Amino acid sequence: MITPPKPADIQHLFSQIVQYDESISPMELDLPNETHDTISLAYGDADPALFPVKPLIAAVDSMLTGNLDITLNYAPAYAGLIELVQERMARLHIPLTRSELMLANGSSQILSLLPQILCDPGDVIIVEGPTFLGAVETFFNCGLTIETIPVREDGMDLDLLESTLIRLTAQGIRAKFIYTIPTFQNPTGSTMPLANRHRLVGLAARFGVIIVEDDAYGDLHFDNPIPPKLIALDPTWVLYVGTFSKILAPGVRMAWACGPAEIIKRLNRFKTEGSNGPFMTRLVAQVSADGWLDKHIAVLNAHYNTKCHAMLNTIAETFPSDVRYNRPLGGFFVYVYLPNDLPVSRLLPAAIANGVSFLPGTTCYADGQGTHEIRLAFSFQSLEKVVEGIRRLGATMHQLRIA
Ligand SMILES: Cc1ncc(COP(=O)(O)O)c(C=O)c1O
Repeated sequence: MITPPKPADIQHLFSQIVQYDESISPMELDLPNETHDTISLAYGDADPALFPVKPLIAAVDSMLTGNLDITLNYAPAYAGLIELVQERMARLHIPLTRSELMLANGSSQILSLLPQILCDPGDVIIVEGPTFLGAVETFFNCGLTIETIPVREDGMDLDLLESTLIRLTAQGIRAKFIYTIPTFQNPTGSTMPLANRHRLVGLAARFGVIIVEDDAYGDLHFDNPIPPKLIALDPTWVLYVGTFSKILAPGVRMAWACGPAEIIKRLNRFKTEGSNGPFMTRLVAQVSADGWLDKHIAVLNAHYNTKCHAMLNTIAETFPSDVRYNRPLGGFFVYVYLPNDLPVSRLLPAAIANGVSFLPGTTCYADGQGTHEIRLAFSFQSLEKVVEGIRRLGATMHQLRIA
């Protein structure tokens, strides 16, 4: 066995960015002892019951009986997948040339490349609060200064965004980008209406700031139509990030970025793992072809809609009446605002003792807010477990009130 060097002896090896002390990350997730009986409503994983196992097996089978050089050797990304993404985006009124589009291993890869090509340590970026912890943790770890703009039921508070941009400009600071999830936001489930979308892209153009539009849940809508994408409203100032994780399977690690060619060119330069692999690109394209993906998305939407409503109905039946919550129109999450006497610090240990867990709101902010907020995912657990989990959580809230 190799004797490891003492941390203090190797500290000088690391870049300034990775010398940060891990304990200061405010987004760290440390759920107390869950057992295998705990119903976790914490994680926004896809529902495994809906993974398209048979179509995937059929596609792999046909790929492995064909020309193996185009699937298993070094080869570029399968052009058919790029065409499929172009076709899907064109339907949303976003026509893309090849130089405006890049594939990646999950949108997480794109989000982690952004600071490399757009920022220097200390640069200011703007994020929603609460937001997707994975993105903000990446930005935080790159030494960026993070300004947080609150999210309301209709998305980012644009009055506050505007005043923040004015303040920064007065200080001689230009924010490098605005990271937003305008549709079925993680974690709040909120969706920005059209008028606000126009105002947001107008602010980006006025202040010369790129918007990063993370549309991870954009296809997962319930009964309502999908609002226009920000990039469809102003392609000049928006970099759009889409993913197959929620509509096919997170494990395929397939996503895309599209937007100004100058940004895509630089993202490509730093994405060095090599063309996303001919195997996975072909697999995703082959499974999704001939309208199959649209039909699959319709199945997902009906399924997630049912689970979301089961969660909302059970919340209405079992939570104390002064607990507020959002009613999402799509996506994976219900976001809950707790009354003063039920902070997460009290609720979480008691909930876990009662066999249910959730994501504390504090993990969704870069600045320690969210002490009275929780995210409940209806995506992963079965319908029965979603209902049972919410019952346990409601009972826990009432118990804490009596105690
Ligand atoms: C808003 C948002 N963006 C991106 C991701 C990561 O997606 P991917 O699997 O494409 O990396 C997630 C995953 O939960 C997410 O919620």
